[in-house]
Amino acid sequence: MKIFVDSADVEEIRKLWRLGFVSGATTNPSLVAKAGGDPKDIYEELASFLEHVSAEVVAEDADGMYREGKDLSSIHPNIVVKLPFTEEGLKALQRLKAEGVRVNMTLVFSPAQALIAARVGADFVSPFIGRIDDIGYSGMEVIRNTVRIFALYDINTQIIAASVRHPTHFIEAALSGAHISTVPPAVLWKLLKHPLTDIGLERFLSDWRKVQEAKVA
Ligand code: G3P
Repeated sequence: MKIFVDSADVEEIRKLWRLGFVSGATTNPSLVAKAGGDPKDIYEELASFLEHVSAEVVAEDADGMYREGKDLSSIHPNIVVKLPFTEEGLKALQRLKAEGVRVNMTLVFSPAQALIAARVGADFVSPFIGRIDDIGYSGMEVIRNTVRIFALYDINTQIIAASVRHPTHFIEAALSGAHISTVPPAVLWKLLKHPLTDIGLERFLSDWRKVQEAKVA
């Protein structure tokens, strides 16, 4: 499973990327609004060091989505256009795919939506785990069933486990066979930490220092 950052905060993403395990970022209008600044500058900068940067359209009609998608994809070859799973989004998906633009279908909440997006040609689908959990259903079951359906029918569309809220979501997404998990920075920092690593290191170093001190004495 590849690991993406779910954020539009360039500095935070760069800090995580420097650690070597992050290969992409996904943004959405809420995250871009929170980051501030010109969205195009954000996408361009992120695409200069990441292999995948999902940039979402804000138009609601197919023509507008298509135009915006073309514009976003022209910023950099690593930009993937994010379209909402709506009827208009499906129409825009067909037109963008016909022109070779890579698309990530977002706001996916069921395996049926994921299968339909894949059949229309989406390169990526993003089921929102946390938001499904929020309404009392299992987000992970949507991931598991989508993985199964795609395997049964040899579908190449990649599944991005999105709306990841805590470390358990991340591990379960990996166990379920999601191709990618896009994770907010706060959760990624948590994944790096384990109390036994800190305790273990402290003990190693204190044992080491004792030996060095004994040698000097
Ligand atoms: O990747 C989608 C994500 O940004 C939504 O997350 O936590 O707002 O449901 P959340």
